[in-house]
Amino acid sequence: MSAETSHEALARAALVVPGGVSSGRRRTSPPLVTESASGAYLLEVGGGRLTDYYGGAGAAILGHGDEYVTERVASATRRGLHAGVGVSLLEIELAERLTAAIPCADQVLFCNSGSEATAYALRLARAATGRPLVVRMDGSYHGWHDAVIPAAPGVLAETGAATLVATYNDLDGLATLFAEYPDQIAGIIVEPIVHNCGPTVMPDDGFLSGLRALCDRHGTLLIFDEVVTGIRHHLGGVGAIQDVRPDLATFGKSLGNGYPIGVLAGPRPLMERFNTADGGTVVFAGTFNGNRASVAAALAVLDRLDDGTAHAALFSLGQTMRKGLQEIADAAGVQAVATGYGSVFTLWFGPAPRDHDDVRRGDRALFTRYRQALRQRGHFEKADVDGGRSVISTSHTEQDIAATLEAAGPALRAALAGREEDQ
Ligand SMILES: Cc1ncc(COP(=O)(O)O)c(C=O)c1O
Repeated sequence: MSAETSHEALARAALVVPGGVSSGRRRTSPPLVTESASGAYLLEVGGGRLTDYYGGAGAAILGHGDEYVTERVASATRRGLHAGVGVSLLEIELAERLTAAIPCADQVLFCNSGSEATAYALRLARAATGRPLVVRMDGSYHGWHDAVIPAAPGVLAETGAATLVATYNDLDGLATLFAEYPDQIAGIIVEPIVHNCGPTVMPDDGFLSGLRALCDRHGTLLIFDEVVTGIRHHLGGVGAIQDVRPDLATFGKSLGNGYPIGVLAGPRPLMERFNTADGGTVVFAGTFNGNRASVAAALAVLDRLDDGTAHAALFSLGQTMRKGLQEIADAAGVQAVATGYGSVFTLWFGPAPRDHDDVRRGDRALFTRYRQALRQRGHFEKADVDGGRSVISTSHTEQDIAATLEAAGPALRAALAGREEDQ
């Protein structure tokens, strides 16, 4: 164990890395500097062990440092990490496995992150339709590139203006947008279940099929961003659970269990527009695309999840967590809803949200206080609302969930008491 505390180590980091962290979404208060991550746990420098529900931003579906994945990656990379030219047999195998699992996929292309996958999806939508605009939902997160983030310094105003923002679960609003911009909307990108704005926002019955119908009517491509939901909820994503088929789908995160990978999936006529195919003109490139470490990790993850037993266990743990949290919140007399789906959960302080405006009205300060109080008791859920979904991995046990639920009551009471003191 290091003698340095997280505070001290972060101060050191901040001298040489702006803010001390490698992503704007990694800032946490109080700071967290990890010595290692193993299974369901994070080991903090100079401190104790935290049961981890952040799971590498949702990537670690098998838990941290899974032995089987590690071994498969080691054995693949002993034969060279990456030729970087042509294609490897491993890539072919992974593409065959994914096209069999993902309903909209005749073909897939590999990149290194979810952001890359969504950028390629939007580029392809524009190229295929010859239209300039795309639509995303308020409160969504599709990565860090200019087309999908809110206006920010350094982003060309023209780029931002080419992305329209709609309200999740609001088909009328979307129909109005199509009327305002006839024949101009290339694609709609949507998280089929929203896991990026704190609480989970579920699609209303008929929302996804309604989106499909609107897109069909207007010649617009429907893109499911399954970077969180894909693999985690089902190997084929929500597109395989619901009877709604998108034109394109993006995958990432859980597929690599922490090894960097992104996937764009779609039908042959669209995918063969990329310049990876004869005559294709849409640019697709990347030095590390399809590297053997990430591809071997993905194959190992698919092997581990293939027969459905791991998903059944994950869903059951998720259900136990949500039920327990709801009971604790009800007993504390606080307005809260244990949101989530499958292995994702978030205790949210407000009514069940249907869109991002509902999320804005929730008690975000109590959310942060509760999670900070939970961390003091040895259980880590990221204390920021944005990106604040929590995830369970196959390394978590029933005992882990029970221990977290045991800590959740006192943590919630401490958070409520703290709130009253400040009022
Ligand atoms: C739905 C969704 N899409 C895309 C991304 C971007 O993925 P990456 O961080 O791998 O670039 C994320 C990341 O959180 C995400 O949640």
